[in-house]
Amino acid sequence: MSKYKLIVNEQEHEVDVASDMPLLWVLRDKLKLTGTKFGCGIAQCGACTVHVDGVAVRSCVLPVQYVKGAVTTIEGLSGNGGLHPLQAAWIDHDVPQCGYCQSGQIMSAASLLATNPKPTDDDIDSAMAGNYCRCGTYIRIRKAVHSAASFYDATATAKKGGE
Ligand code: FES
Ligand code: FES
Repeated sequence: MSKYKLIVNEQEHEVDVASDMPLLWVLRDKLKLTGTKFGCGIAQCGACTVHVDGVAVRSCVLPVQYVKGAVTTIEGLSGNGGLHPLQAAWIDHDVPQCGYCQSGQIMSAASLLATNPKPTDDDIDSAMAGNYCRCGTYIRIRKAVHSAASFYDATATAKKGGE
């Protein structure tokens, strides 16, 4: 066992765990952040997606010893305890069915919008291709991502207008 300091959702934590423990286990079992889900455990389904320094990573295959940046999970995505625009859009479009894959879907979508604020359908499909949904909510996911993107666009335009 070794001690690791982690910044998760802007809070510092110290955990005493095996160096090869995947970040997903640290988040769920040690920090009780259970919004991030275990699906396949082999980086194939995307259910465990979180951000490390803003980049979407598969936490099921990332040993804690290699985590070198601030971690954000679905619980901390909005940064203010409210709803992130993607979460609001997910509700508006009634995206989830069973819900199991959805935190991973939203984390991947957030990473996409951070680098591509106006994604096309193809951009969305390719960015989200590693996130599987057994319930087949892909069409609504796409609509919700466009909706969140237009929210950012409207906010940016409003800010420009106020300058
Ligand atoms: S649980 Fe990590 S990608 Fe499936
Ligand atoms: S909503 Fe059920 S797996 Fe995606």
